[in-house]
Amino acid sequence: MSGSDRRTNRVPERKADRRSGADRRSPASSALRSGGLGEKRGDRRSGGDRRDDAAWQPVSIDSTGSPTDSDLALLAAATDARTRAQAHYSHFQVGAALETADGQVIGGCNIENATYGLTLCAERVALVKALSDGHSIFTRIAVVADTEAPTPPCGPCRQLLWEYCGDIDIILGNLNGPTGRFRLSALLPMPFDRRLLE
Ligand code: THU
Repeated sequence: MSGSDRRTNRVPERKADRRSGADRRSPASSALRSGGLGEKRGDRRSGGDRRDDAAWQPVSIDSTGSPTDSDLALLAAATDARTRAQAHYSHFQVGAALETADGQVIGGCNIENATYGLTLCAERVALVKALSDGHSIFTRIAVVADTEAPTPPCGPCRQLLWEYCGDIDIILGNLNGPTGRFRLSALLPMPFDRRLLE
């Protein structure tokens, strides 16, 4: 790579990757999907405890298929970012790599603190780094943790990714490789966003 190319973490372009520069922050899709109130059949109102083990199994949600070569490159960047995790309390190290529409990759790791509550997730660290550096259009984020099952972004991270990135692809992996590939709208099917404030 030439010395003048500042995009040293650039992931190689690949066709059919859904990585065009389109702004995904205003997808028509899932803002106000129907459903919710008025559930009639199968009211699910028995007194059973719903916090049981079954509820903890990964749910079946839309997947966008197999990882591409460029997903693997993004996962590698997230794995690298993970080595800098400041997870002194949970010892649960997470790395993220956020890709901009022009192919730059911004890494992030989780940063914990003695108050616990001020913990910053890897995804949010990557996002705030990118935003503060002036990036505004994003295509994918990879998240890596040392878990057999996919480690998806937590709820607050999904909310922030939705607001600032739109319906991006979420590539999940562990230290052995990819574990899942989803659209953010599948992980956050009924988002609260600024359109509801208008
Ligand atoms: N964590 C992340 O960084 N991203 C996730 O997607 C899940 C959780 C961090 C927060 C905390 O430092 C540790 O993992 C345990 O929750």
